[in-house]
Amino acid sequence: MADGFKAEWPMDLKAPEGSLEAKQPRPDLGADVVDPSRYYSRAFMEKEWAQLWPRVWLLAGVTPDIREPGDFTVFKHGHEEFIIARQDDGGIRAFYNVCPHRGNRVCLTEQGSVPAFTCPFHSWRFNCDGSLAQITDEETYDPELIKHRPGLTEVRCDTIGGLIFINMDGAAPPLKEWIGLPEGYIENYEIEKMNVVRHVRSEWKANWKTGVDAFYETYHLPHIHPQTQGVMEDFSQVDLYPNGFSRMIVPIGVKSHRVKDQDSIDPYQAHMMMEAGIDPQAYKGTPAGVRAAIQEAKRERAKKFNLDYYDRLTDGQLTDSWATGFFPNVQIGMHPEGVFIMRFVPHPTDPERFYYDNMTMFRYVDDPGYTVPGWMGLPEGMDVTGEIRPEIEHVPADVKPDLGEVLDQDVELVYAVQEGVKSRGFAGPIWCEQEDRLRHFHRELDRYLNGEK
Ligand code: FES
Ligand SMILES: [Fe+2]
Repeated sequence: MADGFKAEWPMDLKAPEGSLEAKQPRPDLGADVVDPSRYYSRAFMEKEWAQLWPRVWLLAGVTPDIREPGDFTVFKHGHEEFIIARQDDGGIRAFYNVCPHRGNRVCLTEQGSVPAFTCPFHSWRFNCDGSLAQITDEETYDPELIKHRPGLTEVRCDTIGGLIFINMDGAAPPLKEWIGLPEGYIENYEIEKMNVVRHVRSEWKANWKTGVDAFYETYHLPHIHPQTQGVMEDFSQVDLYPNGFSRMIVPIGVKSHRVKDQDSIDPYQAHMMMEAGIDPQAYKGTPAGVRAAIQEAKRERAKKFNLDYYDRLTDGQLTDSWATGFFPNVQIGMHPEGVFIMRFVPHPTDPERFYYDNMTMFRYVDDPGYTVPGWMGLPEGMDVTGEIRPEIEHVPADVKPDLGEVLDQDVELVYAVQEGVKSRGFAGPIWCEQEDRLRHFHRELDRYLNGEK
């Protein structure tokens, strides 16, 4: 094919060894079939709360959301909440969102900017560094009780490439050791220079892992999302990294190898060319060459706008989705124009509910031709300049989150799977090689729950 792109299994985009795009050697993953009770059992959920969630680094937010001292964002995960605050010295610190007085939530808003945090119950005040600023009617306390000057309880916090993580476990390895991705992998996208342009948190009636599984493979694309076939290859390059991390490179701009007509340009391909600044009428190449043509056009465009970070991205990265799995519950679809962050947040009490938390981030370029990729499903007319951080849209279960056609299809699918896995007639998932990321993810999860980690 014109651009050297060839879809066969195992998919290998043939990037040179050592490059960030290179196919990773496949480890021996065995052929276990896991017990399906992990998708619905309360005991399993409790085990996760005892042995998984407190011990892993959790994606708590993104640095562009808290640029100035006093800016804060609240991160909710299960029954825990954290305040992530920008400090006077430019650093970032995180605290449990719990008042040491009587346990009230200190911050009732999800984001904002404050000189200090004031607990709404009795107005105790805390500095942005978590230290106690003032106790209301302090003279009415036995001095012994408050001599330790109770402040907010701090939690470990660190950042990498614009992503903020917290960890509830003092003994966990540092973030940089724990992130299983090679150096530069995240940083090259310069997420810190993007802005959240949409944030939707929808409640889904399924276990958080049913959600992760559904987004961790492209094996289902031809069947659930047939409309993607004209512009997306469903054989992804699957790469497994240490500590449960993984990636799939989803080639975009090409027709799936399953499509019979490989001679005419698909309307979606034409649309994608337009987005990249190519006139589809003037394009004289083959459908297989569209991906490379888009890459070239995007390189040119990046030069025009002095987007130097494109120089660190491979041609493949300019078109393809690098869907990157951050163990345990995050996947980020990474693109040069922006990233699509999905967090699968466990429900506080119900193993058959989770929150699908989506942040669409975009690096604004002041030109009408430089737009958020259409597939990100951003509603028409949304402000993408990043001047105002949008409020989080909360969508209850049973209401469609309006995230675009593909995600609507996923909601229905995930609900049906959640019902099916509970059946006496289901013996556990039978994963193929295209589902290696699921196997890798569940194996790592088991290591935590079995006490191996
Ligand atoms: S619970 Fe916070 S001031 Fe009383
Ligand atoms: Fe899907």
